[in-house]
Amino acid sequence: MCGIVGYVGQDQAAPILLEGLAKLEYRGYDSAGVAVYDGTSIQVVKSKGRLKVLSDKIHGGADMTGNIGIGHTRWATHGKPSDVNAHPHVSESGKFAIVHNGVIENYLELKSDLLEKGCHFVSETDTEVVAQLLDYNYKGNLLEAVIKTLKKIRGSYAFGIICKDWPDRIIGVRKESPLIVGLGKGENFIASDIPAILSHTREIYRLQENEIAVIQADGVTVYNMDQEVIEKTPDHINWDISAAEKCGYEHFMAKEIMEQPKAVHDTISPRIKNGRIVLDNITLTKEQLENISRIMIVACGSAYHVGVVAKYVFERFTHIPVEVDVASEFRYRDPIIDEHVLVLVISQSGETADTLAALREAKRLGARTISIVNVVGSSIANESDDVLYTWAGPEIAVATTKAYSTQLAVIYLLAIYIAEKMGVISEADYQYYISELQSLPDKIAETLDSKAHVRAVAEQFYQKKDVFFIGRNIDYAMSLEGSLKLKEISYIHSEAYAAGELKHGTISLIENGTLVIALATQKRLFEKMMSNIKEVKARGATVLGVTTYSNQQIEKEAEYVFYIPEICDMMLPSLAVIPLQMFAYNIANLKGCDIDKPRNLAKSVTVE
Ligand code: G6P
Repeated sequence: MCGIVGYVGQDQAAPILLEGLAKLEYRGYDSAGVAVYDGTSIQVVKSKGRLKVLSDKIHGGADMTGNIGIGHTRWATHGKPSDVNAHPHVSESGKFAIVHNGVIENYLELKSDLLEKGCHFVSETDTEVVAQLLDYNYKGNLLEAVIKTLKKIRGSYAFGIICKDWPDRIIGVRKESPLIVGLGKGENFIASDIPAILSHTREIYRLQENEIAVIQADGVTVYNMDQEVIEKTPDHINWDISAAEKCGYEHFMAKEIMEQPKAVHDTISPRIKNGRIVLDNITLTKEQLENISRIMIVACGSAYHVGVVAKYVFERFTHIPVEVDVASEFRYRDPIIDEHVLVLVISQSGETADTLAALREAKRLGARTISIVNVVGSSIANESDDVLYTWAGPEIAVATTKAYSTQLAVIYLLAIYIAEKMGVISEADYQYYISELQSLPDKIAETLDSKAHVRAVAEQFYQKKDVFFIGRNIDYAMSLEGSLKLKEISYIHSEAYAAGELKHGTISLIENGTLVIALATQKRLFEKMMSNIKEVKARGATVLGVTTYSNQQIEKEAEYVFYIPEICDMMLPSLAVIPLQMFAYNIANLKGCDIDKPRNLAKSVTVE
């Protein structure tokens, strides 16, 4: 949520800032701005709207001179998207300019203190308060002013700060929001995420909580809050640069959908050695596992939907009861957690504010924690007892696809692994499920082959106003994700319902021509689903079924069908999600929606 970039070096800063912001636009895109020091003063240009508006305003950066600057792309929290609320924010004297990702919780209190002291504010943001406070605390020593300010503020932040009196340096600091330092030759960077700096350097520092980086062209020094220098070891980023580019696809989402066979393969295959699942990063012993009375899964958005599938999967494989909760509810509901509960946290970014807070709450209550995370070194990965990385590579489109699929793959690995450790799965079943797991990437690829058919079906339905998804058991879990994918990128109202529950109210919304997408992938529930399909058809619905090739009787009722290959029932969601992602993508594309940057959303939600 919000993208930060900063540059200090020999080159003109503004074009580099714009290039970096373009890679971070997925984090927020309601307004953008840059601040560049031109040798005499800090010049700031900001614009409501997409980054392109800003870029056009400063002619790709050509209008701004200076070798040091900071930039920001915003997802509004305090104050509507507008030129004035866009970052960077500048202190009244013009001495400090800052960009911020996060929320300052006590900003109103700080603002009223500063107002009493005679400060004037121009924006409605929490961030401007920090710019003013820095100026107020500044007595000639920049580091001291920053530390004094940090001690006054409560909340989450990643800041990039420049000061007119110190025109050779940027300050970067973070707490609960990500920030990295990029290490170049004669130039250095800060950024919210790696793609922003990948074309300049592959060596980075990952800043930890309240580490303060002083970034100059010829070096970076990192301090703690006691002004002691911290020795940091750089991480080398070995991504292929194409991982963060569209590579000929119209949208990142299309590219990421097609990358799923590889992403799932990369996630599974290093963890199956000589026919056994090896999870080196899991330090839980058999005895500890036997002491687990409950698994609690906590996550947000699509990661929560993975959690809903995981409930069925874990209960089936491990026989341990599982509860699933959205992180924003979990953290404030006084959850009943103790050392016998295994808390599993799922997060693509590893930075989602509610998920991170839930993890901390679980740890405080004594739970053992495992996280499933895509971003190496992220806060959730760092703070959980054990971490299992998904190897999806960078995911840029706001609507997740390959991260979701790799999270599911890790769920299967972990559930089968725990079942085997606890001795509750036979060797024959263990071998069977491992081979099913290994077949997933190819079957995902086979499912992707139906893209022309999915497109043709989407052409029939892209003008619908309402869509209902129904399913039972893991098909219900799956329908939650199918429905979310559709609504978040196409803005079509859609709801997911447990098929048997529909008749308790929602069926009243079905009328002639209403589209019902019926997931009926599981053999043992197929007949039940056929009855539910008949119920909606009797009320005039048009039905699009999703099932395996062996359930062709669905065509007796469903006007349209997406077929998926056969696989063991617990792994069917990994295949069923594929046509639903493609369907949502095509509907949104046919409607002309901004697929990679849907309105009001952001990829990494680092505020509550
Ligand atoms: C946002 C994204 C979703 C994602 C959710 C949780 O809403 O748009 O795609 O599922 O955040 O994010 P996380 O990074 O924790 O998986």
